[in-house]
Amino acid sequence: MRSVSLSRFLIDEQWQSHAIPADLRLLVEVVARAVKAISIAVGKGALAGVLGDAGSGNVQGEAQKKLDVIANEILLEANEWGGHLAAMASEEMEHPQGIPHRFPKGEYLLLFDPLDGSSNIDVNVSVGTIFSVLRCPEGVDPTSEQAFLQPGTQQVCAGFAVYGPSTVLVLTLGKGVHAFTLDRELGSFLLTRESIRIPEETKEFAINMSNQRFWEPPVQRYVGELLAGKAGPRGKDYNMRWVASMVADVFRILSRGGVFLYPRDLKDPSKPGRLRLMYEANPMAMIVEQAGGAATTGRERILDIVPASLHERVAVILGSKAEVEVATRYHQG
Ligand code: F6P
Ligand code: MN
Repeated sequence: MRSVSLSRFLIDEQWQSHAIPADLRLLVEVVARAVKAISIAVGKGALAGVLGDAGSGNVQGEAQKKLDVIANEILLEANEWGGHLAAMASEEMEHPQGIPHRFPKGEYLLLFDPLDGSSNIDVNVSVGTIFSVLRCPEGVDPTSEQAFLQPGTQQVCAGFAVYGPSTVLVLTLGKGVHAFTLDRELGSFLLTRESIRIPEETKEFAINMSNQRFWEPPVQRYVGELLAGKAGPRGKDYNMRWVASMVADVFRILSRGGVFLYPRDLKDPSKPGRLRLMYEANPMAMIVEQAGGAATTGRERILDIVPASLHERVAVILGSKAEVEVATRYHQG
């Protein structure tokens, strides 16, 4: 079988399908190169002394791991000089970062969660990188939060990488979802799944059950019915999986269906959810919708939310369409 590299795929998108402009192709190539570098650092683990705490905290008050900081620096450095970006924003930085004056500037904004699933870094479980691309609005300072505060429907591209037994890059340019596996000998990503579709029906769910006592009634009802199995109103037995790395849980859903929930809960009423809208929920919601699934907060479609701040949190229910619809319906009552 002839293998299609990510570069070849992107060139075809640009020239054959006229689906993307040259600078967006370059942007994706550069992010993919950064992902390769992060994959190498993650893969070396203790051998390279990259495990453990960085001894610092991020804007959300979370302790940073050394690899959170390394991954953030790799993405910033790779993307600052290519001329395709106007600014970048990251989970690990309080404010957006502009492009240094000595480099050319482009029209896109890049947002990322450099290393998703931080609690899994030191225990050798899959982690990943999530990213989202927006266009910089005219007449707005690209380094202002204002430039970034666009609903997820405005994303021109979204993707994530999973650093698991193999490194896989999942990508959407707004016309379907494709997965590329890193060939470590060649050092290039090869297309391994084209036009991914999430199965509509599922028997698998993902939620952190330890938060059950804090859930709101619609989530109590929905998960309660799944747990009731064949004898309950859903009439079938469900299985539960929770990796605690959203990238790995979403990749599983893209592979064999399922539903993922990180709902709003009463554990910390000041937080409307755990996951961040702009660089976690939005890119994942675009990917899931592009693969035929659905993504809501329980109350509204994630991609329709007009963000109020760069690091805002949101409730997330995503995956197989039929399941997301049931859980969302229970919130409507
Ligand atoms: O980035 C947040 C995150 O690490 C997700 O990747 C993951 O789904 C979730 O948090 C895990 O949360 P918890 O620690 O509650 O299981
Ligand atoms: Mn994350």
